[in-house]
Amino acid sequence: MAEGLRAGETAAPPRQFRFTERDFRCIQRLVRELAGIELGEAKRELVYSRLTRRLRALGLDSFRAYCERLRSVPQETAELLNAITTNLTAFFREPHHFEHLAREALPAVLERRRDTRRVRIWSAGCSTGQEPYSIAMTVLERLPAGWDLRILATDIDENALARAREGVYEAEAVRALPRARLARWFLRGRGANEGRVRVRRELREAVCVRRLNLVGDWPLRGPLDVVFCRNTLIYFGKDTQRRIVERFADLLGAGGWLYLGHSESLFKVTDRFELVGQTIYRCRG
Ligand SMILES: C[S@@+](CC[C@H](N)C(=O)[O-])C[C@H]1O[C@@H](n2cnc3c(N)ncnc32)[C@H](O)[C@@H]1O
Repeated sequence: MAEGLRAGETAAPPRQFRFTERDFRCIQRLVRELAGIELGEAKRELVYSRLTRRLRALGLDSFRAYCERLRSVPQETAELLNAITTNLTAFFREPHHFEHLAREALPAVLERRRDTRRVRIWSAGCSTGQEPYSIAMTVLERLPAGWDLRILATDIDENALARAREGVYEAEAVRALPRARLARWFLRGRGANEGRVRVRRELREAVCVRRLNLVGDWPLRGPLDVVFCRNTLIYFGKDTQRRIVERFADLLGAGGWLYLGHSESLFKVTDRFELVGQTIYRCRG
């Protein structure tokens, strides 16, 4: 056991940069105010490790200096959020949602929108784009001719959005996709892009990538048919979750569909949605 520690205690890891309680509180408060993200005690090491690269890039020697920079250079807050957000995602992650979209939600939407022939879907917290492109493949493979599909893909992290717009991925990321789907929707990279794939133009054209902060203004007009907001609400406190899902309900209206991530739930958050499947909700209006 390390010297000076009681049983059950672990030594704080050696650190290159001074990171005090006050520095952690400063970053915790700012991230909550800016993005609604709650950085609990368990996230202390994550904050340190995610931000050290930024300190190095800026030539700073302590977190106190970084907090001062955040106060004096407002643009630095975007870099802070880019570093703090967790962007883990994958094509057809939680595949039962895409099966449900194909079998249940989309036929209902086609019926509901037979006059306008418009389908509007929002991927809120889209990260690097695999989610909205998976939605686009699922819908375009089934959409009758003459229908108009638009998928809004939004996130707060500008680096993730740049990758979503580009639509270029390591071939490994699409390894599990059926061959026919791969051939229809992806181009294989050559030369310098060997080992990568790019989503075809038809998919990129269906997906509109924008920066949007879920706790800020939403320059968005309804009605929407489906919202995917998966593995994103989990970073917010209950009140913030409530405000966001109530705004989803306003945009969806009765009959609209909402997909949440595997560990998320609307239990004790709102009763404007009915649970109709595994983390699948239908708006009551
Ligand atoms: C773990 S990813 C989820 C990606 C995808 N929805 C999925 O389930 O695979 C969470 C995303 O939420 C985004 N995010 C966090 N806070 C946000 C906020 N206030 N507004 C918009 N996006 C936010 C992060 O940048 C990150 O890309």
